[in-house]
Amino acid sequence: MAKNQEKAQAFYIRDSAIEQLPESQVTDESVYLQRRTLLKRLGYLGAGALLSQHALSSSAHADVLGFFSNDDDKKSGFKRSPLTFSQPKAFDKTQAGEQLVLTPEKKVTTYNNFYEFGAKKDQPAEYAQDFKVNPWQLKIGGEVEKPITLDYDDLIKKFPLEERIYRLRCVEAWSMVIPWVGFSLAALIKHVKPTSKAKYVAFQTLYDPEQMPGQKSRFLGGGIDYPYVEGLRLDEALHPLSLMAVGLYGKTLPPQNGAPIRLVVPWKYGFKSIKSIVSIQLTERQPPTTWNILAPQEYGFYANVNPKVAHPRWSQASERRITTGGLFARNRIPTQLFNGYAEQVAHLYKDMDLTKYY
Ligand code: MTE
Repeated sequence: MAKNQEKAQAFYIRDSAIEQLPESQVTDESVYLQRRTLLKRLGYLGAGALLSQHALSSSAHADVLGFFSNDDDKKSGFKRSPLTFSQPKAFDKTQAGEQLVLTPEKKVTTYNNFYEFGAKKDQPAEYAQDFKVNPWQLKIGGEVEKPITLDYDDLIKKFPLEERIYRLRCVEAWSMVIPWVGFSLAALIKHVKPTSKAKYVAFQTLYDPEQMPGQKSRFLGGGIDYPYVEGLRLDEALHPLSLMAVGLYGKTLPPQNGAPIRLVVPWKYGFKSIKSIVSIQLTERQPPTTWNILAPQEYGFYANVNPKVAHPRWSQASERRITTGGLFARNRIPTQLFNGYAEQVAHLYKDMDLTKYY
């Protein structure tokens, strides 16, 4: 194991330059604050949050500082374990002629969206450290011949793990490049043998307000009706790129990134990649999805990354890549159709109007 781990470490680019980026280079806070404007309009964010939408006031400023802070101590209570995994060439850093530069691990684990632990970027890393991930039960059922329940050890041992370096594009127009460790969702679905009625896959996050403060407080949790739910069409779920991730950077996931197991669908906006999953049900009908319930005109069921389909309140033509950059680099890059995975996934949508099915 240790050998595997060493290899993985050597494989990663660590970029110290990003530590020195000035505030102006950080992912647009204004963009996600706009998303929070919606929540505020709906009456869900507190007065402090309102202040920060109008200017980068003290609370937004704290987000930015948190993003660059070197003070890991208060955020490192959760213990992560090294994983054993293979590194298929298909998922290395060279993809479609692009040399992907990894987002530093510290950024991946401290700049998060996980509203169950708070709607601000630095809150999940702070409030999730005591989250209990073992014991865990993930139930897979619905339109299947062989429903199963996986416990914590099954998640890590039942299916061979591999590392997959994927771009993650948030609907808020920032992106990262993350070395996930996990297994194909297809392997799991085939294992339970879908019936002929199965057309969709519905996912659900743990509901445990005692552990997840955002589920208790509508102010902290952004007014979402928990549990957080997501869904895919069955053919999307069976696509080899759809990943059940149990780790990142060679170790088990930290809770703020969705421990012990989460979905990663790299060609869709990040909100489809639901965290800390306890239920996967195969269904005949399209399942409800959290952001679509909250604002259907803004967040569709499909949520495929598409530079030509703007969010009603901001453009999706470009994104802020949280990866590298010297002092003068802007890190603003054009957004790619299907987040750069068009060659692999475009056929899934060949007769669909992507502006209608956004
Ligand atoms: N899953 C749950 N249960 N709750 C959330 O708030 N946020 C989503 C997604 N999965 C979210 C979630 C959003 S908006 C994004 S961009 C990604 O998680 C962020 O994943 P990361 O924090 O690991 O980068």
